Amino acid sequence: MTGGERQRVGVVGATGLVGTEILRVLEDRGFPVAELRAFASPRSAGRVLPFAGGEVEVHALGEGCFDGLDLVMVDVDDPLALEWAPAAAAVGASVVDNSAAFRMDPDVPLVVAGINSDALDHMPKGIASCPNCTTAVLVAALAPLHRAARIRRLVVSTYQSVSGAGQPGLRELDDQWTKHAGSTGALLRAGDGGDLPSGEVWDRPIAGNVIPVAGSVGDAGFTSEEWKMARETRKILGDDDIAVTATCVRVPVFVSHAMTANVEFHRPVDPREAAELLASAEGVTLVADGAAAPTPLESAGVDPVLVGRLREDPSLPGALNLWATGDNLRIGAALNAVRIAEHLSRMPHS
Ligand SMILES: NC(=O)c1ccc[n+]([C@@H]2O[C@H](COP(=O)([O-])OP(=O)(O)OC[C@H]3O[C@@H](n4cnc5c(N)ncnc54)[C@H](OP(=O)(O)O)[C@@H]3O)[C@@H](O)[C@H]2O)c1
Repeated sequence: MTGGERQRVGVVGATGLVGTEILRVLEDRGFPVAELRAFASPRSAGRVLPFAGGEVEVHALGEGCFDGLDLVMVDVDDPLALEWAPAAAAVGASVVDNSAAFRMDPDVPLVVAGINSDALDHMPKGIASCPNCTTAVLVAALAPLHRAARIRRLVVSTYQSVSGAGQPGLRELDDQWTKHAGSTGALLRAGDGGDLPSGEVWDRPIAGNVIPVAGSVGDAGFTSEEWKMARETRKILGDDDIAVTATCVRVPVFVSHAMTANVEFHRPVDPREAAELLASAEGVTLVADGAAAPTPLESAGVDPVLVGRLREDPSLPGALNLWATGDNLRIGAALNAVRIAEHLSRMPHS
């Protein structure tokens, strides 16, 4: 982004995985920052973070901490966001929230930039919300297809990286790999018990494993992540009739989520048409099919969602199978939030 009036920006949760990425993306995209205030827990107060060739000191949240700010990016857990996002909006700042606290609030737009940015025209609470990181990747890949042929039903399975669970998730996989490097015996024969790595985020080892429950189990045996994917996808695509069923799985990958989707439309779509739609879509890169299908490592640190393995579903002609992977910290969180902030800064009233 170039030009535009310089803004006084606050980042709440600036020391976290998403907050750190927000600082990087603001800098990389040349967001016009007049002043940056970084907030985190009292544990981090006084720490300094690198920003724009200099440093910014971290402060704890407190009375009056948002005074004078134009924009506040909120990157903390739901209870903190519930408390502090309205406080930021109350002093007149535009708020872009990455938590789940306001996503389904009818008076808060839930936005993937470039897909439904026009929803930002209706922001009565002064808060805009970013979707769950898995939903953002899925919607970026599917929106061009939905616009052309309207999705009737989606069956999704995810392969979600540990950074989706924040710093504790990243640390847990890192610790388990490090402690067990060179001694894979326990992981090879884990069914027999033995010296398995244990952690706090997941009740079973994540190193060398796949955990078929991402999020907490809730209604009808589906997890919080699975419900978010269904509800948020419908809200962003503006179509309450889309049937969505998801299975969200945690895999031992550090960054970037991946997923398969079986997609049924209101009219038949063949892989050639889908490829043409995706090839010209913003924020998506269609990668050559077959063995070259993109991996999470290839999508980590890059902006677009990578899509591959487009196939017609032989059991349901006119429906498609596809694979998508995208960086949960960038398109799934920080990049989307900064692009929303860019859009807001171009709007006449801000
Ligand atoms: N990770 C993802 O892929 C992803 C994607 C989309 C959305 N999100 C959402 O984004 C939010 C942040 O996630 P994350 O992955 O960045 O988590 P994280 O790495 O665990 O970071 C949490 C942040 O919250 C701060 N914090 C904790 N207690 C606080 C307090 N009392 N006052 C102020 N700040 C406090 C932490 O500060 P300290 O360092 O001082 O503890 C840290 O900066 C969550 O709502 C998450 O659901 C995450």
